Parts: sequence; structure tokens; C-alpha cells
Amino acid sequence: MPSLPAAEFAQRRHQLMEQMSSNSIAILPTSPVCNRNNSVDYAYRPNSDFYYLSGFDEPEAVLVLIPGREHGQYILFCRERDPARELWDGLRAGQEGAIRDFYADDAFPISDIDEILPGLLEGRDRVYYSVGKNLVFDQQLMDWVNTIRSKARLGASPPKEFVMLDHLLHDMRLYKSAAEVAQMQHACDISARAHIRAMQAARPSIYEYQLEAELDYEFRKSGAHFSAYSSIVAGGSNACILHYINNNQPVQDGELVLIDAGCEINCYASDITRTFPVNGRFSPEQKALYEIVLEANLAAIDCVQPERHWNEPHEASVRVITAGLVRLGLLHGDVDALIAAEAYRDFYMHRAGHWLGLDVHDVGDYKVGGQWRVLEPGMCLTIEPGIYVAQDNLNVDARWRGIGIRIEDNVVVTQHGHHVLTHGVPKTVDEIEALMQR
Ligand code: GLY
Ligand code: MN
Ligand code: MN
Repeated sequence: MPSLPAAEFAQRRHQLMEQMSSNSIAILPTSPVCNRNNSVDYAYRPNSDFYYLSGFDEPEAVLVLIPGREHGQYILFCRERDPARELWDGLRAGQEGAIRDFYADDAFPISDIDEILPGLLEGRDRVYYSVGKNLVFDQQLMDWVNTIRSKARLGASPPKEFVMLDHLLHDMRLYKSAAEVAQMQHACDISARAHIRAMQAARPSIYEYQLEAELDYEFRKSGAHFSAYSSIVAGGSNACILHYINNNQPVQDGELVLIDAGCEINCYASDITRTFPVNGRFSPEQKALYEIVLEANLAAIDCVQPERHWNEPHEASVRVITAGLVRLGLLHGDVDALIAAEAYRDFYMHRAGHWLGLDVHDVGDYKVGGQWRVLEPGMCLTIEPGIYVAQDNLNVDARWRGIGIRIEDNVVVTQHGHHVLTHGVPKTVDEIEALMQR
């Protein structure tokens, strides 16, 4: 799937510059390359804020915005073309490509940034920059500011204020355009196929990594270069470890498998969890707990509506899960009192979801002015309630122990309600059993 149109990146830069004060500058480096071992680096993935504004995915790049600058407001520092390096590592956009393909007004070699950036900073009143995200770059920026300070007697004027850039950007990123939702839908469709593929491959004694391989195959075959996060493939009681990623154990007959996996398309994440019996049939205990988590998932999704607040889906899931655990005898007492005492937290210790976008745990405030944020069209989130009965929980009957279940969907708030992006994966007991019988 092609990335977003260049006009969308331009519109974002424009929207950000509209919010910047006069005579200011924004500076945003992309992520550094991360060494894996000796001459081998980890696969490169740009910084999400940087990518959001530029669509530029090469390492060693810095974006600069100077609203109202006569010689161009959008400046990109990037690597120079270098035939010898390109022979080994692949083509580079170079400065010409930065202007031609990424619509920079001006582009300079990254190797010249120490000479050029102090001149762009000098005389600006305010610098929009996210301090503390990249300590090496923080130091570089302070060096440039000090270079200007050292010339104060010659009339040079260092910046007077620093403003956190990420706060402005993250609020913009929270509202997804139709084109962004389409990217996420595409990622979700691939991930849905991957989950189905894993369900179909499941059989007793299969290793968790063999199921992970099915996911990876579908991701890569469909053009997703990356997973949005390390896949969780957890058989039996491993599902009670929330971020289990060892994925190296066999799944025994009669156990459930919890798979939490999603691919990334053009840096947009998907994040799906399904839990299913490795042998294709839920046991009565597994089914009873599964039905509660499913009810909680559906009740929470129902709350995803404009004008409802961020915490409503979580509150709905807590109520369903607490009532369900009382019904099955895993909790005892009055549902309201148990909710007030947070008794459910022995079984449901995480929140119902998080924002989703360029980052799997996406940016954006969850509270505004001390109040839970009101949902608005374009916001994307996950709904992922779960029940996890620890193997060593001696307060419950032995037959429940070691069962871990989570059901996670991706949802976008629409004008009049919501749209579930992850409809493609079976979710009810009947749907899952039917798929696995085939
Ligand atoms: N995959 C991590 C999460 O669901 O939040
Ligand atoms: Mn997940
Ligand atoms: Mn999630």
C-alpha cells in the first residue's frame, strides 16, 4: 500500500506552523540507528513524530520548520548521495530527492548541520523542541545555542524560550484522517488474516514459535515489513504473563493460546488479540471465562461513541468482568462493593485499551484539565479486556487456574458511533470453533 499523499504531510506541517508563535523555529530529529552487534544494525524505523511531518524514512535526518522564512519554511537535513555507500546500503534521497519527492523548501547535507543550524536558530525568540527524547541531539542543540551565546557581544541573539514540540504534535496525531484510517484498516486486515492463519495451523503440542512463524509469514507476504510490536504467543498459563514474548514453549492439548500480534503498514500499527483452544474446542471452564471477556469487549466497544469519555469503555469492562467472576464463583460479594474495592484487579490488572496510531501505544493525552478526555471522530483506540487466573491463585477452584484470556480489537470513533477495524478475525466461541474444525 502506498504511503499517504505528499499533500497530507504538507497539510500537517502547515497546521503545526499555524500554531507556532511568530519568529520561532521547530527542530525535530529522526531516530538514531540502533546497533545490534558489531557491524549489524537493527532494521531502521523512523521516529513517529518526524515521520508524521515528513514521510521521510531515512536515518540521519533533521526536520526544521521556520514559519514565514523567506527562503522556505520547511528545511530537511539528510544524508548526501554517495555512490559508494549506496552500493552497499541502498539508494538515498539526497538533497535533490528531499526537495523533489518530499517537498522540502530547502535541503542540506546532515554533515553540514553544525555550520548551518546555529544560523537558523540565531535571532529566533522561541524554539519548539522535545527536550529529553534524544540525549545526544539535546547536547548538540545546547552546543548550537552556546555557539550563539558566545557571539552575544557581536550582537548575536540566542533563543529566549524552549517549548515542548511533542505536546502540539501529539494532539494533532490523535485525530486520524480518512487516509490514516485507511492505512490502519489495511494493517488490521493483514493482521486479521495472520490470526486466522495461526488458528488454522494450531494443533496440540505445536510450539509457540511455530504459531508466531505463521503470523510473520502472513505479515511479510502481505507487504508489512515490521510487526508493530513483539508478537505475544502464549500457550496455557503463559497467557497470564501480560507481555510474554519468549514464545518458545509447546502448547499442550487442552490449553488455550493467547496471540497478541499486529503488523505495521507505512508506520501505522494494528494491535489484535485473540485467544483460542489449541485443539479447536473450548473446555467448559475456558468457555465460561471466554464468554465474560467477550461480553466485556462488546460492552466496552459499545461505549466508543462521540461525547462519551475515555474511561467509559474501561468502566463497562470492569463491571461485566466483576459480575461475571461473581457469577462463576471466582469472586464473592456485592458487585458494586467489589468494583469499589478493585477486587477484579487480581484477574484484570490492566486498562481496557490505549490510543493507536503511528505508535502502538499511541500519543495523545488521556485526560484534559484533570477530566477524562471526551471521544471525538477520528480517534483510534484499542479495546482489550482480559481475565487472567494466576496458576498460584489458591482463592479459586483449581479448575480455573492458569487460564488467561484477552480479546483485543481496534476501533475508530466516527461521526455517529464507531467502526471496528478488526472485524476480520473470528471472535465468538462458535466462530472460532467452526474455523478450527474446517
Ligand atoms: N500489544 C500490546 C498491547 O496490547 O497493548
Ligand atoms: Mn495487543
Ligand atoms: Mn493493545
